[in-house]
Amino acid sequence: MAKTEDLIAVFDSGQGGISVLRELVRQMPREHFLYFGDSANAPYGSRPTQQVRELTLDRIAMLMQRGLKAVVVACNTATGATIDELRSRYPHTIIIGIEPALKLAAEQSTKGRIVVMATEVTLREKKFSALMQRYQGSHDIVPLPCPKIVEFVERGVLEGPEPEAYLREVLLPCLNADTRAIVLGCTHFPFMRPLIARLAGPNIRIYDGGEGTAAQTRRRLEQENLLLSEGEGRVIIENSLPDPKILALSRMLLHFEENGL
Ligand code: DGL
Repeated sequence: MAKTEDLIAVFDSGQGGISVLRELVRQMPREHFLYFGDSANAPYGSRPTQQVRELTLDRIAMLMQRGLKAVVVACNTATGATIDELRSRYPHTIIIGIEPALKLAAEQSTKGRIVVMATEVTLREKKFSALMQRYQGSHDIVPLPCPKIVEFVERGVLEGPEPEAYLREVLLPCLNADTRAIVLGCTHFPFMRPLIARLAGPNIRIYDGGEGTAAQTRRRLEQENLLLSEGEGRVIIENSLPDPKILALSRMLLHFEENGL
């Protein structure tokens, strides 16, 4: 049984953060993770920023009562709206937030277009504007809100005519011969990566922030001497919707493979 002070909480508006949890488990198999998805209130990404802020602060305050050693905000939307406030409220806890992997995409691509798929909240927040400004000179950055992908993933619809028609309608018009990369700037989107990759074709690279966020979490735990060096880790999954189907979907997504389910 994990001691509560060993727990790392992973938070998202719903199922999306499971794409980050997957990476965290892969990189730190000895750690004990408590995943909390707020599916009762998803999607966050089309709400007023103030509501995202209140929901996130509230849920993290609730998780903090369980005595955590770290919190991973596995939601780009919640990170954009609250990360500074979370860090000042909980200065003694490691707080990591995921951000669209635009830096990596820009550094690894030659001049050309980079499409950043994310939620409306993420794309209008100051954090993203600052990131975009940094790379706008060297690349043609196209922000693309894709709210419906969140709804598909919440329903467990990861492929098929419905998401394909939607992606054809919103994504394909943004791609041109100069497009080098697509950034999946919402943690729900990696579950649709096979479909996105098929539509984008082999010349466009796809980035998501999960791997970098997990690596950053690992580094911070190491720095603070908090990384467990023995034993087998475990994963607790909780959700604000107390429906066994939701938890079964989370478990299924945790074992999602890029090459198909
Ligand atoms: N998964 C979240 C993100 O990374 C947001 C999805 C939503 O609730 O709109 O931005």
